[in-house]
Amino acid sequence: MSENEQVSAGGHSRRSVLKAGGVTTAALVTMDGVAAAAVRPAAAEGVASPVSTAEVMLHINGREHPLTVEARVTLLDALRERLGLTGTKKGCDRGECGACTVLIEGERVKSCMTLAVMEDGREITTVEGLARGDDLHPVQAAFIRRDAFQCGFCTSGQIMSAVACIDEGHTRSDEEIREWMSGNLCRCGCYPNIVDAVRDAAKGAGR
Ligand code: FES
Ligand code: FES
Repeated sequence: MSENEQVSAGGHSRRSVLKAGGVTTAALVTMDGVAAAAVRPAAAEGVASPVSTAEVMLHINGREHPLTVEARVTLLDALRERLGLTGTKKGCDRGECGACTVLIEGERVKSCMTLAVMEDGREITTVEGLARGDDLHPVQAAFIRRDAFQCGFCTSGQIMSAVACIDEGHTRSDEEIREWMSGNLCRCGCYPNIVDAVRDAAKGAGR
């Protein structure tokens, strides 16, 4: 699967992300029903520097999180810096490594490539939301059983992608699993174990 396909999986194209990012140059913006507005003075020169902010409601792992964010803030930064959900990792910060993968409305999205304001009101699942109390998600359990954990940095993104990969039904062969997990890079080379773990979890889910 191409990078572009993965990035657009949440319903946003690169173009729409770039356009949304561009609202930081506007003093007043309305996007997706979110009223955005604020002009913050630049301290040094006393010159008005237009910075648009928006009130958003992020639905994450079954909880609502009201936030005021600048329109340029990525979902990844909102999760990590504002909400303390640091299970989602920042690797490349430019859509290449998959460390920041989350599920939005059940589809995998690289959270560094979408803006928090674009996900207002949508259902977001991070790695923190997979387990049910002490019961690990079957994919998490399979990763442990198959020793698919390595550095821990890219693992949460791998797990989120694996959950979606299984839900999408792209697990009919090891080749298919590799292809549909290819947006997540693992530099330590534990791919074979990851494929084993995804295959196990898919079997457990009847896929
Ligand atoms: S941090 Fe988002 S793809 Fe690398
Ligand atoms: S698990 Fe992080 S580089 Fe492989």
